[in-house]
Amino acid sequence: MRSIDAIKQRCESAIKRANNLVDLERLEIEYVGRKGELTTILRSLKNKSEEERKKIGKEANDLKEELKRRFAKLRRELEKELPGLRLKKERLDVTAPGIRRLVGGVHPITVTLRDVCRIFSTMGFAVAEGPEVETEWYNFDALNIPADHPAREMWDTFWLKPTNQKSKIKNQKLLLRTHTSPVQIRFMQTHKPPFKIISPGRVFRYEATDATHDFQLWMLEGLVVGREVSVANFKSVMEVFFKELLGSGVEARLRPSYFPFTEPSFEVDMRRGGGSWLEVFGAGMVHPQVLRNCGINPNEWQGFAFGGGIDRLAMLKYKIPDIRLFREDDIRLLRQFRRAS
Ligand code: DAH
Repeated sequence: MRSIDAIKQRCESAIKRANNLVDLERLEIEYVGRKGELTTILRSLKNKSEEERKKIGKEANDLKEELKRRFAKLRRELEKELPGLRLKKERLDVTAPGIRRLVGGVHPITVTLRDVCRIFSTMGFAVAEGPEVETEWYNFDALNIPADHPAREMWDTFWLKPTNQKSKIKNQKLLLRTHTSPVQIRFMQTHKPPFKIISPGRVFRYEATDATHDFQLWMLEGLVVGREVSVANFKSVMEVFFKELLGSGVEARLRPSYFPFTEPSFEVDMRRGGGSWLEVFGAGMVHPQVLRNCGINPNEWQGFAFGGGIDRLAMLKYKIPDIRLFREDDIRLLRQFRRAS
């Protein structure tokens, strides 16, 4: 009897505290459910005397019914409040400031790379790639620059420490390629002319940095080999390229120069709107020895090649004053290229 009163009191104060349907359901299970306290009391009656059974049974049943009514009432009240609660929770303040999404940019070097590949592919060039870690032979010897050749000083080189691991490349010193010219060699060894390729890629130079020099940069290599390929062909390719990349009003000129892998060799200069001349590419007719080194007969085939900095082109195109900005990844620079792709 006492315990039934206690249950009643406990349940009443719990009902007062219940303010949502989850609470209510928990109470229903606890007090009037199949395993609830009142049910347990009612089930245990069979061990009691006739008199007790009647008395406690009635009390317990009455309370159970009363609680059921109270729960039903509470449920009606809570359900009435639901739409209001939901509105409160899902209120949308249309005057609140929006959340700014950060949108990345396409790096100016990437934009330039894509432009370069697109322009050359419309002229029928394929894109070839080579490794950034090269052997001495591909980077130098095959390009007609033997170890004792003074021209090696044109490229300050990051040599890699020999490791004890068994290298597949026997007796070869490894280095970070100083230019993309070794891709010419790799391509000529594995393809039969005629062909036209460009090869963009990263190169590395062991030198101090300043506004126009970095120890890593992107270079573009070009190679055309055919039966009748001339300097005039080369010049017109350059003119088309500059016009497509930088717009009309761009002029190109060739100046005599020296590279071990070309003969004759040139520098390619360009200028815009009659401004001052800027050196953009090294170039020349592929040296017969280089063709021979790749198993191509120089009496049958000839070609031109060129190479230069993609960073330099991007600086020209976007008026970026310092080459080192390309590798700082400053969001203020990159954002300006958000829509360019
Ligand atoms: N590899 C040269 C450099 O690193 C650029 C170059 C000059 C590439 C003449 C060529 C070439 O293919 O014919 O400066």
